[in-house]
Amino acid sequence: MQADKFMTPLTTPISMSWLDDDVFATTIMNAFSIGLPVGERFFIKSLKEHMSLLDNEDLVTQCTIFIEQEVNHSKLHQAYNKRFCETNGLDLGELEAPFINAFHYLNSERTPQIRLATTVAIEHLTAITSTLVFEERDWAAPDAHLIKRFWAWHCFEELEHCSVAFDVYQQVYDEREVLREVFDNTLADLIRLYKLTAFSIVVRTRSNIKAFRQWLETGNTYRHFDYAFQQFSAGIAAFHTAHFHPTHHFTVPAHAKPVR
Ligand SMILES: [Fe+2]
Ligand SMILES: [Fe+2]
Repeated sequence: MQADKFMTPLTTPISMSWLDDDVFATTIMNAFSIGLPVGERFFIKSLKEHMSLLDNEDLVTQCTIFIEQEVNHSKLHQAYNKRFCETNGLDLGELEAPFINAFHYLNSERTPQIRLATTVAIEHLTAITSTLVFEERDWAAPDAHLIKRFWAWHCFEELEHCSVAFDVYQQVYDEREVLREVFDNTLADLIRLYKLTAFSIVVRTRSNIKAFRQWLETGNTYRHFDYAFQQFSAGIAAFHTAHFHPTHHFTVPAHAKPVR
């Protein structure tokens, strides 16, 4: 595991349809990016406040690489979000605000254990998403669209570091009940935040809100929607099993090595 920067500048406009000309699928990915910089800064903080409690040198090294990777992701997704909002006449501050409020609440009102458990939960959901991205072989292809390659770079490192926060949580707390409860709450919060963000983008860009709602409900306009839903359900169920560990659930596919 190592932290590799994405070397190609994101100079291309980030449209509402870069993902296979599908406005709604693109909206989901762009909405997903909006919450990442603030989320990733939170993950870094939650790991840093536990590193001094670790007695496993190898895990400390993994934490350092995890932090380096998330620093890079956070910076570049901030640039992505800025570019996306400029391209489409959106107000980034307005879109980011619900995420800033949610993570501020966790930072000021919740314990370090709950913060770390929240990071573990989001890392798990991110790893499921990353696996889904690599189900489509063209994301990491050398001739893939720049934005797809950018996401492939991020998803590759997410799969690489998917067990780090989990291992820190287990070493410091080893309380699965708390972890499962935090996971369920976090999932509900993220669904609410991402629905809000996606609908805000649809409304502000004057896309067809009725068609978007229908698309979310029936999911029949994007070819892998049902499959994605099944994968999320399976991943969530796995997380709740007694001996779950991320490395049993996720692998980095051979074709996923990104061209940066
Ligand atoms: Fe990340
Ligand atoms: Fe991550």
